Amino acid sequence: MYPSSSRILRSLIHKTSYIRMSSSSTSSKFCLPQRLQGSAESVWNEYITLAMKYQPLNLGQGFPDFHAPENVTKALARVAQSENPLLQQYTRGFGHMRLVKALSTLYSKLVGREIDPVSEVLVTSGAYEALYASILGHVDEGDEVIIIEPFFDCYEPMVKMAGGIPKFIPLKPKDTGSAPVTSNDWILDDKEFEGLFNSKTKMIIVNSPHNPVGKVFTQAELERIAELCKKWNVLCISDEVYEWLVYDNKKHIRICTLPGMWDRTITIGSA
Ligand SMILES: Cc1ncc(COP(=O)(O)O)c(C=O)c1O
Repeated sequence: MYPSSSRILRSLIHKTSYIRMSSSSTSSKFCLPQRLQGSAESVWNEYITLAMKYQPLNLGQGFPDFHAPENVTKALARVAQSENPLLQQYTRGFGHMRLVKALSTLYSKLVGREIDPVSEVLVTSGAYEALYASILGHVDEGDEVIIIEPFFDCYEPMVKMAGGIPKFIPLKPKDTGSAPVTSNDWILDDKEFEGLFNSKTKMIIVNSPHNPVGKVFTQAELERIAELCKKWNVLCISDEVYEWLVYDNKKHIRICTLPGMWDRTITIGSA
C-alpha cells in the first residue's frame, strides 16, 4: 500500500520541521554521549597527525619494514582470485573451524588442559575487537574495572562505553639505588592495589608482557592478582598480545593457568 500524496506531503513537512528543529539544537544533540564526555582524544589520532606534520622518526607505532611471508600472501591471493564461490561466503561467526581447531591444539599444550575449540575459542578482528567484546559483554552500568597504568589506550573508553567505572592504579618504579631501573622494577603498591577491590569490582584488565613498560609480570605478582580476583569474585581480562616477545630468560606465565583462575579469565592473544 502506498501513502496518498497528501500523506506524503504531510510526512515531508513533518520531516522538514524535524530537520530544522534538529539543526538548531545540533550542538546539544550530536555531541558525544554523556558516558564518553571528558575522554581524551585517542593518542593515535594525536600522534599520527603530528607525525604527518613534522615527519619525525616515528617510534610510536609498529611499522614493520619487512614483507608478509610469501606463503601467506600467495594463499590470500589464491582465495581472492578463486572462482569457487564457496570461498567467498560468511564464515562461522566464532571463527573458521580449521582456525579454532589449530588454536585449541596450540593453546591446549600451553595451558596444560584440553581446550574445546567450539565453546572456548573465539576469533575476532584483532585483539582490539576481543577487548571490546569482552568488556562490553560483561560490564554493566556502575561496575568498577581495575586498570593498571600506564595502559593500552583503548581500555578506558571501552569500559566507559559499557557504562563501567575505570579504577586506576599505577605501576611505580621501585628504588633501585644507583642501579638502572628496568621493566622489572615497575611494581604495584600492594596496599593501594588491595584497597581498589570491593563488592562493585567486576573486572581487572591485566597486560603481560606489558605495553608500554615491557614488564613481564612474575609468578608472585600474578598470584597476588589471582588471590584478590578470587576473594572479590572478579573477572580477569588477560591481554597477552605480546606473549611471544619474552626475552632475558623471563617466562610468560598465563594467569588462566593459576589455581581457580580458569573460569574467571578471558585470555586475549593476537597474530
Ligand atoms: C597491549 C595491547 N593490546 C591489544 C592491542 C591490539 O592488538 P590488535 O592489533 O591485534 O588489535 C595492542 C596493539 O598494539 C596492544 O599493544
